[in-house]
Amino acid sequence: MNSFIYDIPTKVYFGENQLGHLGEELGRYGKKVLLTYGGGSIKTIGLYDKVVEEIKNAGLELFELSGIEPNPRVSSVNAGAVICKKENIDVLLAVGGGSVIDCTKYIGAAAYYDGDAWDILLQKVPVDKCLPIIDVLTLSATGSEMDCGGVISNPETQDKIGLLFPVMQPKVSFLDPSITYTVSKYQTACGAADILNHIMEVYFNMDQDLYMLDTVMEGLMKTIIEFAPIAMEAPDNYEARANLMWTSSWAINGFVNGGKRQAWSCHPMEHEISAIYDITHGLGLAILTPRWMEYTLDERTVSKFYQFGCNVLGINPEMEPMEVAKKSIEMVSDFLFKTLGLQSTFTEIGIDDSNFAIMARKACGGGILSGFKPLNQQDIENIFKMCL
Ligand code: NZQ
Ligand code: ZN
Repeated sequence: MNSFIYDIPTKVYFGENQLGHLGEELGRYGKKVLLTYGGGSIKTIGLYDKVVEEIKNAGLELFELSGIEPNPRVSSVNAGAVICKKENIDVLLAVGGGSVIDCTKYIGAAAYYDGDAWDILLQKVPVDKCLPIIDVLTLSATGSEMDCGGVISNPETQDKIGLLFPVMQPKVSFLDPSITYTVSKYQTACGAADILNHIMEVYFNMDQDLYMLDTVMEGLMKTIIEFAPIAMEAPDNYEARANLMWTSSWAINGFVNGGKRQAWSCHPMEHEISAIYDITHGLGLAILTPRWMEYTLDERTVSKFYQFGCNVLGINPEMEPMEVAKKSIEMVSDFLFKTLGLQSTFTEIGIDDSNFAIMARKACGGGILSGFKPLNQQDIENIFKMCL
């Protein structure tokens, strides 16, 4: 196993009726709270009123930033930073999915910077300070509730950039699966595709001696395959929502990473698609995942596919490894496109090949994506073409 540092300093309140601790947790960091949220779902589901009541009951002062977009824009980061500086905000409270939490992380960092927040994404300025962040998660997908990363879009330059800064790690996350009962079938499916791919990005790895971590990841992937269809059929099934929620956090909180040396592959490719076409991240990943599997399958990588097919999908281990590998790609496609009902091609969602060259160049930074199978610009373009 490779060497690594394991440090996840996020306190988690998991389950129903935990919001009573919100005021006390916010109060540890000061009096002035900036509540950040998205397009209004938290009002429709009655969560906004509960959160505001907790803040008021704790005697804290409330400020708000609403309208954070899915695929959050740098303009929202700048708007939040202005409020933080003007009002001397002490603590940020993000209530929403990955977009709201990601945007709030950069607001916390931009509060200490006087220029355009995009400079942070361009890594022109160091990020060594961030306002404390507490979140109430409303959608199981990105794992932003338990990692220090965030992804921000800039429509003017058609860029979408994701970075990791330890100071942006949430201090406290409230994970109540019942809050996700109202997540639509489509967003539930996209979330499941995202979680599955987070695990696959780590699992499909040619490093050796990861048996313990591989076994944990196999369990996490089986959990998604088992419970995503149940949550779609019965949105208020607590067990299904709880399994999805805790898996989303553990897929990306650093535990399964185990010092992995290879880069991720599907994520950099997907970020270039949503940068231009503003599609849901999980949908882009769903379309890419089976094509990336097909493209990376060869004599060198087949053993990993065999392990995945037998241990995660229950394929008969007596079959030839290459047959298991091919069947596992077919089963992943069926899960994403038939069971979860996601669209299966770029063409179906109105994306043609006109930007493939530029997207491929940006995805690999003009060099090599050093993932499970190293991919150059031409390889990435080939994978994009397979998605048409
Ligand atoms: O905006 P509102 O009105 O809140 O509605 C949202 C939004 O329209 C809605 N929603 C959220 N919770 C709901 C709900 N609707 C009903 N009931 C609820 N309880 O769902 C829609 C999508 O929300 P969004 O936050 O955009 O989804 P997600 O959590 O999938 O976040 C996607 C963003 O996270 C980034 C993606 O690139 C994308 O920008 N990622 C962040 C990562 C990280 N921080 O580590 C890793 C990921 O790989 C990913 O790249
Ligand atoms: Zn993702």
